Amino acid sequence: MSTQFEIQGLKSSIEGKEILKGIDLKINGGEVHAIMGPNGTGKSTLASALMGHPKYEVTEGTVTLNGEDVLDMGVDERARAGLFLAMQYPSEITGVTNADFLRSAINARREEGNEISLIKFVRQMEKKMKELEMNPEFMHRYLNEGFSGGEKKRNEILQMMLLEPKLVILDEIDSGLDIDALRIVAEGVNAMRAEDRGFLIITHYQRLLDYITPDFVHVMMQGRIVKSGGPELAQRLEAEGYDWVKEELGIVDETVGQA
Ligand SMILES: Nc1ncnc2c1ncn2[C@@H]1O[C@H](COP(=O)(O)OP(=O)(O)OP(=O)(O)O)[C@@H](O)[C@H]1O
Ligand SMILES: [Mg+2]
Repeated sequence: MSTQFEIQGLKSSIEGKEILKGIDLKINGGEVHAIMGPNGTGKSTLASALMGHPKYEVTEGTVTLNGEDVLDMGVDERARAGLFLAMQYPSEITGVTNADFLRSAINARREEGNEISLIKFVRQMEKKMKELEMNPEFMHRYLNEGFSGGEKKRNEILQMMLLEPKLVILDEIDSGLDIDALRIVAEGVNAMRAEDRGFLIITHYQRLLDYITPDFVHVMMQGRIVKSGGPELAQRLEAEGYDWVKEELGIVDETVGQA
């Protein structure tokens, strides 16, 4: 069955302050949705709320993946159900190697007794690292510790490739990537496009979307999706900025800072 991911009327608060003010979004398998929007408009909050970050309290709305209630699941269950988030700022975990972390993550999604064998895992990891032009030494480094900005982003894509999620959320995967790395990462994403996998890509720049052609582009302001269109919307934003959107919609302050 093709993947269906649906967000309806999602509202979320942090420490009592409402950030997401009613998000509706439907992502079918095979589709790439881009979310753009000025700083501080709730994009990363949406990603965190979908993944089940404990700080972000969902106060209203529903989220389903293939009919299953995502909001009812813990973070680990969401990951097992096929949700994946490449974070804007990936965390460093000292003492856990990249290989250990990834193998545990893969096995957590498998039935007991059906764990991936060490040799098979290493082969797969080596293959994907080669595709991403990553130095093999990254296999045995502690997760993200001392990784450069671009190395962290490449490593997030490595995780995505090995975990084969159903719904992929990439939060500013292009930030910090050099020109060649941007192309390599985009090729990695494109290779993962499939009928049973949807993508939600948060980005500030058209440049990434030159490589990964989105089916839909959404603009977020004030904790809501205020405008949607096709790839041409991203091109217009790149050329003209956000003022025309604000004017069209009568928005003065696009952030969610003020009530
Ligand atoms: N944990 C938190 N504690 C307090 N405020 C928060 C927290 N997380 C988010 N916010 C606030 O919510 C608002 C939206 O933040 P968010 O990170 O979602 O923005 P964004 O659209 O991803 O911006 P950017 O493009 O700069 O990454 C901001 O005003 C931010 O300060
Ligand atoms: Mg953000």
